Amino acid sequence: MEFCFIAAIPLNSWPKILNFSRSAIYCSMANYLTMIRNVNFIPQSPTTRCCTSRSTGFLPVFAAMPTRALSAFYHDSTDINDPTQRMIASRRMIAKMPTLAAMAYKYSIGQPFVYPTNNLDYSSNFLRMCFAVPCEDYKSNPVLARAMDRIFILHADHEQNASTATVRLAGSSGANPFACIAAGIACLWGPAHGGANEAALNMLHEIGSVDNIPEYVNRAKDKDDPFRLMGFGHRVYKNYDPRARIMQTTCHEVLDELGLRNDPILRVAMELEKIALEDEYFVSRQLYPNIDFYSGITLSALGFPTTMFTVLFALARTVGWIAQWTEMMEDPQQRIGRPRQLYIGPEQRDYVPMANR
Ligand SMILES: CC(C)(COP(=O)(O)OP(=O)(O)OC[C@H]1O[C@@H](n2cnc3c(N)ncnc32)[C@H](O)[C@@H]1OP(=O)(O)O)[C@@H](O)C(=O)NCCC(=O)NCCS
Repeated sequence: MEFCFIAAIPLNSWPKILNFSRSAIYCSMANYLTMIRNVNFIPQSPTTRCCTSRSTGFLPVFAAMPTRALSAFYHDSTDINDPTQRMIASRRMIAKMPTLAAMAYKYSIGQPFVYPTNNLDYSSNFLRMCFAVPCEDYKSNPVLARAMDRIFILHADHEQNASTATVRLAGSSGANPFACIAAGIACLWGPAHGGANEAALNMLHEIGSVDNIPEYVNRAKDKDDPFRLMGFGHRVYKNYDPRARIMQTTCHEVLDELGLRNDPILRVAMELEKIALEDEYFVSRQLYPNIDFYSGITLSALGFPTTMFTVLFALARTVGWIAQWTEMMEDPQQRIGRPRQLYIGPEQRDYVPMANR
């Protein structure tokens, strides 16, 4: 089965996207991705903020917390044949995702939920909902908010990956958009997809000190050892992951801002990167650090536990999923996805009664 797409970011258009991550905000990115085919569902300022951060009916949303359940709460926007309802559902999902993610986090650490603040931008609002506590004033830090925004932009879409294809497949049957995004989240959940930055960070902790790096580099090269350098290499980019460069800069900005330059894990990361970029094994195989190598360190420095990494990924990827789903729904040729099965089993298999098995 093939999916034809326009809304998705083809890998060769990342330079354009990287410009976004330097100068724009996540909402503009959402707009860019979704306005293709004239679906400009997030109006530009001043209403941009209203669409994505003005909160109404917060507690009822909590009652409908799982994304899937949003379809029950927002039942007036589940008619997939109505372009206006599709647009409203899309905006609602992008708007509510940070609130749901922050609530999940607060619940997991036993702290009270923090309501969204309508006068903050998307990323500052999200950080506040995650890290503010009732007894203290919370002051937004623009460096950290910009880092969060870049992380969202860099994860917003990435061609036909497993979760995006899942969203499209679920949507192809006519399922409502909330259910489709929930399907995407389920797929992203797996460690082979959304869990790579967590694996990279765990590896850095396992290495522990700069002195141990040569041992781990040798293990990564040893064909009899299953160990691989997590956060290095990419199935599609056989070159430097263009997103990694922006993430590297962002990572350094965050660590400088928080005074964590001498963090031992960062020192391991920097030394590992240096060695791998010079080592013949990695150079000849074009194994460069990928975005996950730096995003794990950055998210950890921002204060997120590894258990939140995939949640943050899902939050960011919602824009891409929605753009892809929207494009699919607007396609008059769209039909239900039906991957072809090739049966390669025995030609005849006789029924064996239960007692004889
Ligand atoms: C991402 C990944 C699966 C891509 O794999 P791939 O493009 O299929 O590359 P291959 O598995 O064909 O590997 C090509 C060669 O590089 C080696 N290699 C690839 N990634 C490696 C890594 N991270 N560490 C050590 N060696 C690696 C392979 O052993 C193979 O060596 P060989 O040619 O001597 O047999 C792989 O690089 C990997 O496992 N990286 C670590 C996990 C990770 O960071 N994933 C997140 C990706 S966003």
